[in-house]
Amino acid sequence: MNEIKKILIKESDIKRKVKEVADTVTADYAGEKLLAVCVLRGASIFFADLVREINLDLELDFISASSYGSGTSSSGEVKMIKDLSEPIAGKNVLIVEDIVDTGITLSYLKKIFATRNPKSLRICTLLDKPSRRKTELVPEYRCFEIPNEFVVGYGLDYNERFRALKDVCVINEDAVK
Ligand code: IMP
Repeated sequence: MNEIKKILIKESDIKRKVKEVADTVTADYAGEKLLAVCVLRGASIFFADLVREINLDLELDFISASSYGSGTSSSGEVKMIKDLSEPIAGKNVLIVEDIVDTGITLSYLKKIFATRNPKSLRICTLLDKPSRRKTELVPEYRCFEIPNEFVVGYGLDYNERFRALKDVCVINEDAVK
């Protein structure tokens, strides 16, 4: 049985949309500095492509947080595995995430970051699954809204596999188990 059920978003469509969202970010923060924060590991590939299309005075930082154990269901708990390297007080902060699912991870991160007095705080996500939301979280920037399917590729994993695929794909869960 094939482990990949289908391609949901192909490489060329991702590329076009990432450029479009980067142009919007560039316009929205015109004349300002921006700190782009990558949520490891899922957002790493999206982040690398996005920041290279943003035409601003940029700083980059990295955090690691997880609301998932293994497999495809959320544990509902968030762990901060690696915090930011620098203070964010007075800075425009853009958190870059791979996917907003329940919204629990980003609500937690937003709450922590907000206590550190950034000048502004926004979220940019590659994928959004609004049908799964358990919080009020609405990302300011998003590339694609997707249905309630577990996806991999372009940074997203299933038990650490499939991150390097160029397209966003739906896996055949029976085949990968
Ligand atoms: P949330 O806290 O439920 O919004 O979950 C966010 C995190 O869950 C993401 O950063 C992903 O790591 C993971 N996640 C949620 N849905 C998927 C999916 O369809 N494929 C891969 N990872 C996912």
